[in-house]
Amino acid sequence: MLVSAKEMLEKARDGHYAVGQFNINNLEWTKAILLTAQELNSPVILGVSEGAGKYMGGYKTIVGMVNGMLEGLNITVPVALHLDHGSYEAAYKCIEAGFSSVMFDGSHYPIDENVEKTTELVNTCKEKGLSLEAEVGAIGGEEDGVIGGGDIADPEECKQIASLGVTMLAAGIGNIHGKYPENWKGLNFEALEKINEATGNMPLVLHGGTGIPADMIRKAIDLGVAKINVNTECQLAFTAATRVYFEEEKDRVGKGFDPRKVLAPGVEAIKATVKEKMELFGSVNKA
Ligand code: 13P
Repeated sequence: MLVSAKEMLEKARDGHYAVGQFNINNLEWTKAILLTAQELNSPVILGVSEGAGKYMGGYKTIVGMVNGMLEGLNITVPVALHLDHGSYEAAYKCIEAGFSSVMFDGSHYPIDENVEKTTELVNTCKEKGLSLEAEVGAIGGEEDGVIGGGDIADPEECKQIASLGVTMLAAGIGNIHGKYPENWKGLNFEALEKINEATGNMPLVLHGGTGIPADMIRKAIDLGVAKINVNTECQLAFTAATRVYFEEEKDRVGKGFDPRKVLAPGVEAIKATVKEKMELFGSVNKA
């Protein structure tokens, strides 16, 4: 059964580790992540962007697929199904479809409007037992065609949104989606410290987990980050492994053209990436 992310994140915050959110794109992705979480006895959050939701045939398709897999693969670790960077409308669609967690990304609204919309969703999610992620300060890079500026969130605004009763808060601290450029200045830990102080015990979310060096990840967890989002890194690993399959012309040998064989190396690559991240985040054996 899908669970809200609330309990797993509060345990992570108190235990000084982070739970990984891994974005899914299809059945293979979902299965690879769930099997790895089960093998490592780790809680996990499956992230679904609006674009990925459309790609997979709508939110209900995803809920059906994930619930089916929890049963069919005997997954017993805590799993949350979470809308990533949702609009206000998408958040309601996912709540209705059976997601156990949603992110409402109101960071592009003026703060008053972000507060107003987040408050409404706090009430709905509480009523239904779902966890809710809010965002302050846009996260840079490109996601689903939207290019964010990579702001540093204002601690006072973070405090204002955190006090509404959200479960977790994403705050920009110089992190960006996708690959980091050569001249990236790194995470702004001074800002993170201020945000952590201002928001009390709120589990903080670090977006753009791809390519952040291990020492920065550990320091961010020390400073209150309890959820880390990873997307691009699984895509890069999947594509690199798939490319090798074709370069070695394995599709021309025997039944090598069978899609289940074609996709297998990519799936193994996703599993290895998820394992590496769960070990780094410290969530192994925390189910
Ligand atoms: P990356 O693609 O950089 O790992 O970021 C993922 C993310 O933050 C999803 O919200």
